[in-house]
Amino acid sequence: MSEFTIVLATVFTVFITVLFLQRLLQNRGKRYPNGPFGFPIVGHLPLFGNNPPKTFMKWWKIYGDVFSIRLGSWNTVVVNGYNAVKSAAEHPDDAFSGRPNFVSTDILKERIKEDTFAFGNFSPVYLKQRKLASKALRLFTSKRSEIIEELVTSEAKDFADILVKKYNRHSGQIELDVQTLVTRIIYQFLYGRNKTVDVDRHVKALIKALEEFNDLTGSGSPLDVLPWLRYVIPWKVDELRKSFARTDEIMTEQVQEHYETFAPGNIRDVADAIIASDADDEENKDRYVLTRARLNLTLADLQGAGVDTTNKTLSWMFLYMAKFPQVQERVYTEINDKVGTARSVMLKDKPDLVYTNAVILEVMRIVTQIPFSLPHYAMKNAKLQGYDVDKDTVVIFNLFSVHHEKEFWKDPESFRPERFLSDGKSLDEEKCNHMFAFSHGRRRCVGEFLAKMNLFLSFSIVMQKCKIIKPVDEKLDLTPIPGLVYSSKPYKLLVQERN
Ligand code: HEM
Repeated sequence: MSEFTIVLATVFTVFITVLFLQRLLQNRGKRYPNGPFGFPIVGHLPLFGNNPPKTFMKWWKIYGDVFSIRLGSWNTVVVNGYNAVKSAAEHPDDAFSGRPNFVSTDILKERIKEDTFAFGNFSPVYLKQRKLASKALRLFTSKRSEIIEELVTSEAKDFADILVKKYNRHSGQIELDVQTLVTRIIYQFLYGRNKTVDVDRHVKALIKALEEFNDLTGSGSPLDVLPWLRYVIPWKVDELRKSFARTDEIMTEQVQEHYETFAPGNIRDVADAIIASDADDEENKDRYVLTRARLNLTLADLQGAGVDTTNKTLSWMFLYMAKFPQVQERVYTEINDKVGTARSVMLKDKPDLVYTNAVILEVMRIVTQIPFSLPHYAMKNAKLQGYDVDKDTVVIFNLFSVHHEKEFWKDPESFRPERFLSDGKSLDEEKCNHMFAFSHGRRRCVGEFLAKMNLFLSFSIVMQKCKIIKPVDEKLDLTPIPGLVYSSKPYKLLVQERN
């Protein structure tokens, strides 16, 4: 061995030892969560398997409520079970209310060079965006709920007719129709009913962009969490950029038109309501000005977060109804008994349609369409369930684990809507409170009430008018396809008219 090699080896050994000792001193007295062994560079991504929520359930059993993994380049803790997720979500000082700067977040941000809303870090800009959006949504889910009711009812009735017309004799993929239904509803809700714009042209562009975004941001998507990959396959990132540019163009048109025609006494839609609530909000006026670009991005986030989630949830519901026809018959009988056939189901019927509500909850529980919520991020060093979580750690709220906690649900793998009924006449409050489909805490879904109204009306109106049937040769596989929002495998159904 040459002298030079010996010197090099000594320097290297000293360097590693110093690093190790420094780390040891820094971590003295700290207690970090354990986790499975991962790989260098890619971390645990290759171990996620075809069904990451199931893999995480196994790790939960072995390593406990809080375990650690590496999500590509990111140190990550996964929080499991009701108690741990609740305490992480309710952590004082919003310790875990941030969002990591994944590749997708970067692409979203670069359009305006500041935090976006749903994927934005916890900042004054984010807080203001959330405040304006929730105020605008609240207007339509409480005081003026008749606007949503009228919109959803009319779209859902047309949708039921289309389903019967298209799939009465020949089975077909109804998910594509569901996607169009939900996108049309949310589009009109945000930008106005019966607008003269070409809704369908816009809707197609939005659907495409959302699909690309969903693929990129799904749990375990390497491109999202390995930042260097964007230089290896730059065209993937470019595709998403182009899709965003197309949808931004649509929104710019809409926002422009809203500013030109805005009248404070006539709030037509969410875009108007955000402009109005900004005008009323004196707080932070000097620090935050609602520019057109900001309004664009807030609307883009409501659209992005609202469409794919509601659409996939509704698709899962129809799939489960075809798979479990006895449950579907019970829903139909309840609607028939309580509402009849002379008029459509309305929001005022919701308290009476207890079993129907239980079915919606049970599909959302068993599937848990967003099993890992949106990624959270530690804004500071903090303790969680006795463990240390360092600043800049990604924090995953495992919502799937909350919905599949054996001690609480007893038979979480069975599809059994009755579990939500306390006495056959009302919903079991404890079970309802154990549902985290919309997450929990400060970053809980801002569109929860809108989504619940939309799901209840769309699902009940279709159940009232249609019978959904599994074709003889269809298997109806319930295994999900991973993404940000988990979808079902493509399925075909027959749809017959009731009565
Ligand atoms: C079935 C439908 C829906 C489900 C299951 C759902 C679920 C979720 C979940 C799990 C989160 C992440 C919360 C967290 O970070 O912990 C979220 C965030 C969000 N959702 Fe929803 N959502 C639905 C519909 C909607 C709708 C209709 C809208 C609006 C039109 C919406 C807007 C948002 C926004 C803006 C965020 C980000 C909130 C923030 O970061 O502060 N969602 N949603």
